[in-house]
Amino acid sequence: MEEEQGRIISEQHTTMIRMVQGQEILVLRDVLIPGGRIADITISNGLVMHAGAAGTGDVEIACRGKMVLPAGTDLHVHMRDGVQQEKETWKSGSQSALAGGVTVVVDQPNTIPPLTTPERVQERVIRAESQSYVRFAINGGVTSDADLAGMWEAGIFAFGETFAGPSSYGEAVSGDVLVQAMEQVARWNGLLTIHAEQVSEGDDSTLVEHDRLRPVTGEVQAVQDVLNLNTPESQLYFCHLSSADAIRAAVHGTAYREVTPHHLFLSLETFEPDDAHGKVNPPLRSESVRRDLFACWDQIDVIGSDHAPHTRKEKAMDFHAAPSGIPGVETMIPLLMGWVHEKKISIPDVISKTSVRPSEILGIRPAGFSPGDRADFAIYPNELTQITTESLHSAAGWSPYEGMNAVFPELTILGGVVVFDAGDFFRPDLSYDRNGTGLWVPGRGYCL
Ligand code: NCD
Repeated sequence: MEEEQGRIISEQHTTMIRMVQGQEILVLRDVLIPGGRIADITISNGLVMHAGAAGTGDVEIACRGKMVLPAGTDLHVHMRDGVQQEKETWKSGSQSALAGGVTVVVDQPNTIPPLTTPERVQERVIRAESQSYVRFAINGGVTSDADLAGMWEAGIFAFGETFAGPSSYGEAVSGDVLVQAMEQVARWNGLLTIHAEQVSEGDDSTLVEHDRLRPVTGEVQAVQDVLNLNTPESQLYFCHLSSADAIRAAVHGTAYREVTPHHLFLSLETFEPDDAHGKVNPPLRSESVRRDLFACWDQIDVIGSDHAPHTRKEKAMDFHAAPSGIPGVETMIPLLMGWVHEKKISIPDVISKTSVRPSEILGIRPAGFSPGDRADFAIYPNELTQITTESLHSAAGWSPYEGMNAVFPELTILGGVVVFDAGDFFRPDLSYDRNGTGLWVPGRGYCL
């Protein structure tokens, strides 16, 4: 039956593409809306028009027995590309996002060369506009020589991730540079995103050592230092907080708190001690620290993947030499949906932390079920599956979640158009969408 339905939907793609030009009506039939109501969702021009009983649509998708979620907005993705195409490209990374129910990503600036000038921002936007399958925003780097004003006017969303501690392709910035950035960002009412860590010198040869050299105490101290320096009161976003103590330290009026799937689902005990596949910054912690982090679930604003693809070859290297980072944009919501299936967390929480809150922070129209909402959805079956590397789409070509329970979307919709259907991708064309200029989401400082 499900196969049958997938086939019918696939045959409808030509209609979907016509819909782009003809503004036809898409109906999602019998959607179970969180709260218990069952409604038909009528979509036109990229937006939800009506939730209730629908007439006949030009295209209809049967959703009875499925879970329909507003698609994810992932505020922390390293799309690489350029000279790092072996790790990821806009095409492979954005397809990976769609296959994981994510339709909006925010790209990080620790590219090679780093994204610190308006010209590089413009080049990045042009490259992504021609390659990406998802909506995207671009962040600008914070370094001593970065042109913050130029990048703001070129349309970046946020400044950072700003490295308070060094990481892959990112040097730590000094307190002076940080304060100058805070002053400017506060003036523009912008957002400064922070990688909060303190790093000690030592023999970084195992996961236990990696955790010891980049300890929870250093993460907490870095959060506190950044908050203390922030007298200009710029809006802060603490990336990938890895411990309950850091979450508590970051509970502050001017700060958002992001946690990654790897810090929620993995601990250093998951790996052999010298296995660099578990090497990431901040480090994976012990199982008890991981559990305490999950106990802070309600204080987490955003789940962001910190999708940091490095190749299989690089991650198989000696622990010292291997780069830090874990791919995760495709497995983020599927892992959380696995927890929903196991009744550890609720669907409204998943929607809030992967879609509503991040969209609000990004300043875009929410994806959702109400009239006027952005018609970005992912449709999930009601059954668990196990993650296999072969089924994933990142160029990185490996996953630390191999064998873990997850629920992957069968179908992803962007702007009312099916863009992912059981393994097939269709590049969206938003020229019909009167509410958007295309896939790029420019920041508020953007000057034409
Ligand atoms: C990230 C990367 O590879 O770009 N690595 C990581 O370990 N998280 C950089 C970063 O976000 O720190």
